[in-house]
Amino acid sequence: MRELATFEERLSAWTTETMAELFSLDETAGNLGVTPTNNEKFGDYQCNAAMELARTLKTAPRQIAQDFIDKAIVPEFIEKMEIAGPGFINIFIRNAALAEYLESIEQDEHLGVPQAGEGKTVIIDYSSPNVAKPMHIGHIRSTVIGNAIDRIYRFLGYHVIADNHLGDWGTQFGLMMVGFRSFVDKHALAEAPVEELERVYVASYNKSKEDESWREEAKKELVKLQQGDEENLALWKQFIELSIEEFNIIYDRLGVKFDLYRGESFYNKQLPGIIQALEEKGLAKESDGALIVDLEEDGMPICIVRKSDGGYNYATTDLATVQSRMAEFQPERIVYVTDERQQLHFKQFFTIAGKLGMNANLVHVWFGLMRLPEATFSTREGNVIKLAQLLDDAEERALEMVKASSPEMPAEEQKELARAIGIGAIKYTDLSQNPQSLVTFTWEKALNMEGNSAPYLQYAFARISSVYDKYHVLYPETDLSDCSINIEHEIERRLAIKLGRFSAAVIAAASNYRPNILADYLYELSQIYSSFYQNVPFLKAEEGTRESRIRICRITASVLKQGLNLLGIETPDRI
Ligand code: ARG
Repeated sequence: MRELATFEERLSAWTTETMAELFSLDETAGNLGVTPTNNEKFGDYQCNAAMELARTLKTAPRQIAQDFIDKAIVPEFIEKMEIAGPGFINIFIRNAALAEYLESIEQDEHLGVPQAGEGKTVIIDYSSPNVAKPMHIGHIRSTVIGNAIDRIYRFLGYHVIADNHLGDWGTQFGLMMVGFRSFVDKHALAEAPVEELERVYVASYNKSKEDESWREEAKKELVKLQQGDEENLALWKQFIELSIEEFNIIYDRLGVKFDLYRGESFYNKQLPGIIQALEEKGLAKESDGALIVDLEEDGMPICIVRKSDGGYNYATTDLATVQSRMAEFQPERIVYVTDERQQLHFKQFFTIAGKLGMNANLVHVWFGLMRLPEATFSTREGNVIKLAQLLDDAEERALEMVKASSPEMPAEEQKELARAIGIGAIKYTDLSQNPQSLVTFTWEKALNMEGNSAPYLQYAFARISSVYDKYHVLYPETDLSDCSINIEHEIERRLAIKLGRFSAAVIAAASNYRPNILADYLYELSQIYSSFYQNVPFLKAEEGTRESRIRICRITASVLKQGLNLLGIETPDRI
């Protein structure tokens, strides 16, 4: 067992082993481990093994539970065990053991979170916008959710490669080329390049809807580009550079960094090889001039891998991308973060990758679309609320809040604080809900100081830090590390139990690709902290108790700070 194993890990190992031994069973006879309880009346952890084993052992569950309690050799850290209901075994942890565990995680730079990913590489493909189009709000979820997953995996010790798979190739460039040559306003391009590119694209797209020859022209320019025409290539590169410049401004604001910016075009040379492999394995066949993979057997529609005009498809590029990533990085898994509309695409190419023997562990993390009350988002029609605008609005609204709550703060500081709060609020709205649910964004919720929001958690953190600072002013000489933690009060105990579950929350968020598990944990933690704060004296407590409480307070601050950092949310020291 690892050094800083949680009570859950230690208990599960113990109950599993003991059950198996006492009843001469295989350890895989059922789920014999423990789970955290939701109500402290029922102990800290519960074991449901008695119900799992009733049938195999032909014994009533309560009897099994009783036998277990009577015969097991109980570890030191358990205070007591009780049987409840049909045969639940409720387990209570000793206060001294809780205190000891808190002290040990405080010393650990990962706060007790195991380095489970050591030596393993994970590629996370996220954000991945399309060039020559501004990033709009629909991209925010991929960027924010993907980045949180990225941070969580890094914290678990994985070697993470964050890869921005830009949509820098495809039929839209035909329309871009002809549109650019006819409609571009050089002045506007210099002023606001990507906005102008978007305007050009929308104009060209609209024209293509009515004008057949325009469509043909666009197709011709696209083919020229694909064949390496120098003039078109230069123009295309310009679109990419201008776009990346603008994306990077957004990424900087969001605190998001990529290790790679490999767009689809990076894999162009490999595409014929993929087609060849598909043909050699007998996986692809001609259909109306196109080349398709029939996936009927797998319960999916056909997947086109080469169009009748010779162009390759999204799936073909993604297959080449897997091949390239496997060869270059040998990742343990590749995670893709996109909206729900791409589910079929990923299922299809994952299946084909399997048939090609690529032997890759591929995961699609999808999320529902975000709704704003004002509008829904469509990229094509030009009717979009832009991400940069949304971030500006968030900062502005946060600034009003800061000005109202801290009027005496210097203006520069107010602005900086508002930035952290505004950006945090946007991110947290996204991260605090199950990614697969439909998110309706409202400013009231995002900036609610009382509810489950970033400002609430940031405020909780600042308040906790200030308690510690006050203590330090009053007792500058005391080294808290020399003072022991004592769990006395019931609420103190609840807080200690919760702090001990940080590691489980991080692991669950990672393995389910759901940062909201961590967000929920942090919200619950700060709620428990807040009743701790309201119900027991800190600075006014007597010596010893005071130091212990301040130490618990400091650990809570560390866990909140680290947890919010894993969600990409900053924690200013004062709010
Ligand atoms: N560029 C695509 C889009 O904006 C997302 C790409 C996701 N990654 C991938 N490997 N297919 O919809």
